[in-house]
Amino acid sequence: MPVTVSDITAQLHPLTGDRLQQVQIKDNGIVALTLTLPPMPAAERDRLIEQCKVTVKALPEITDVWVRVNAPAAPEPAPSDGRQPIPGVRHVIAVSSGKGGVGKSTVAVNLAVALADQGAQVGILDADIYGPNVPTMLGMDLAKVGIIKNNRGEDIVEPAFNYGVKMLSMAFLIDRDQPVTWRGPMLNGMIRQFLYQAAWGVLDFLIVDMPPGTGDAQLTLVQSVPLAGAIIVTTPQNVSLLDARKGLKMFQNMGVPVLGIVENMSYFIPPDLPERQYDIFGSGGGSKTATELGVVLLGCIPLEIQLREGGDRGIPIVLSHPESASAQALRQIAQKISHTV
Ligand SMILES: Nc1ncnc2c1ncn2[C@@H]1O[C@H](COP(=O)(O)OP(=O)(O)O)[C@@H](O)[C@H]1O
Ligand SMILES: [Mg+2]
Repeated sequence: MPVTVSDITAQLHPLTGDRLQQVQIKDNGIVALTLTLPPMPAAERDRLIEQCKVTVKALPEITDVWVRVNAPAAPEPAPSDGRQPIPGVRHVIAVSSGKGGVGKSTVAVNLAVALADQGAQVGILDADIYGPNVPTMLGMDLAKVGIIKNNRGEDIVEPAFNYGVKMLSMAFLIDRDQPVTWRGPMLNGMIRQFLYQAAWGVLDFLIVDMPPGTGDAQLTLVQSVPLAGAIIVTTPQNVSLLDARKGLKMFQNMGVPVLGIVENMSYFIPPDLPERQYDIFGSGGGSKTATELGVVLLGCIPLEIQLREGGDRGIPIVLSHPESASAQALRQIAQKISHTV
């Protein structure tokens, strides 16, 4: 006999009481729970969520359990610099680059999916107003932003969801065929709305795919929210390195820890001769780059056709070709990050 909603409710009642708001059973054996929790210490909340997951997973034919928490968790003490944490969100990580086209979104998306695959609760905020392509890369091209009410009756934005990752994108708000003419204050407003008036629920990681450079969006993010750190994506080319150095300085000057750099397009692996490597953008490799910038090298990702194809097809390479050199590099970077923050 398949498990029913009332079975699950009965099992959870000793744990949750009337704080269990909704139970949904999806086709593939996934159970989605919604809890309404009063403010409580984060550790206590996490323990309750974990106990609910374990209890439901023990029931027959349940493949996974998703938990959404509706009420904000206890507000953590605001840091003295006025930065405001997002209730329920543990680590906000910015993925940044000096210039566009170096693979920032590719890295951000694959890291998000890899972290989710490792069991973390993950969100991604695509804050790149100039090239918001995270929805495409996550196979959510047709997703639209939903508006729901929070438990105080206020309108909040509901993230889209795929591959275990919640996602909001500037692409939801702009006409992709029109050049972007937003002024700084509008852009800042949108980023803040996506940070604070969104149903992110409980997240271990919120990855923010930043626009290239050191403009308004970077400043808004850095000044609004306490960041666990920034990851700088660069290629081994000299110009790109120079730009990366500028980005790095901005984060360092504003007191944001730089978790390290990711060298993308480090070398080329020809699909027909995978044992060969060509240093297209110059040799010397990642360690030289990291030494020059004085930061940790989180990893080097090769130039691989499958990586681009995965982005275009909306299936990130960590899922489509987990054995590939780039997928392995990306998974290792994800692991380093979850151990560092
Ligand atoms: N290591 C790589 N191998 C092959 N293609 C890549 C790699 N990194 C990025 N790309 C491709 O390069 C293009 C630019 O990457 P993207 O992640 O959109 O850069 P950015 O966000 O920095 O502008 C995309 O088409 C992407 O698929
Ligand atoms: Mg991008």
